[in-house]
Amino acid sequence: MNDFNGRKVFLTGASRGIGKSIKDTFEELGATVIAPTHAEMDLTNNGSIDAYFNDNAEVLKNIDTYVHCAGRNILSGIDEITEDVFEEVFQVNFFSAARISQKLVTGMKDKQFGRIVFISSLYGAVSRERRIAYSSSKHALSGLMKTMTLELAPFGIMVNSVAPGYVMTEMTKKNLSDDEIESIKQNIPTGRFQDTKEIADAVAFLCSENNKSITGQFLAVDGGFLCR
Ligand SMILES: NC(=O)c1ccc[n+]([C@@H]2O[C@H](COP(=O)([O-])OP(=O)(O)OC[C@H]3O[C@@H](n4cnc5c(N)ncnc54)[C@H](OP(=O)(O)O)[C@@H]3O)[C@@H](O)[C@H]2O)c1
Repeated sequence: MNDFNGRKVFLTGASRGIGKSIKDTFEELGATVIAPTHAEMDLTNNGSIDAYFNDNAEVLKNIDTYVHCAGRNILSGIDEITEDVFEEVFQVNFFSAARISQKLVTGMKDKQFGRIVFISSLYGAVSRERRIAYSSSKHALSGLMKTMTLELAPFGIMVNSVAPGYVMTEMTKKNLSDDEIESIKQNIPTGRFQDTKEIADAVAFLCSENNKSITGQFLAVDGGFLCR
């Protein structure tokens, strides 16, 4: 893979789990990574996003890569879901990604180069009970990704989604029981969960300069789970 010296990445959700691994991977490859913490930029709050961009305009110049990894999964079925849950999950998983994209694509267009990856989920392609808001928001992210692909390809900007399979992060531990984890494992053709580094490596390839044609794709890194 080409090295990332001189590349500048904007990354959300880097405090732990998959996002932390993406940050470490880009830094190992030589990129500068700007990864605001939740406290510095709260994705549920548009004012906080705008303020972060206004206050850090100089640092945010020349961003050529955007990876949206932050995510919320508040379990709820159709009978129990509230407007607040819908709003919070959609704001973190979808609306903030659209808002930040709007802010960053102008600079990428000027450079005639950009790479954008939205971290989606298998539940952006299929679903599971009690994932109403989460699955809906990840499906919406695919619409954003595909439309941005069409609009931005002429400017050398590649836009993709990476859908992790099952990764043992805090999100997974919180939302799946030990029994559910065991039963899911039985259904993964490779017989194991993915690790964070496998997701990070796929993201890094899609964001590399070598990738000049893969755009508009929903890449599942899932050990074959979606083939069943
Ligand atoms: N783990 C899996 O098996 C799996 C599978 C498919 C897809 N994914 C997707 O992969 C991504 C990362 O998941 P993960 O498992 O690594 O989750 P995680 O451990 O729960 O990490 C979530 C990240 O999002 C950040 N975040 C959440 N709400 C935020 C907000 N309002 N403002 C700013 N940052 C916020 C968190 O920051 P704080 O800790 O500071 O709140 C954290 O850095 C998510 O988009 C998730 O949907 C995960």
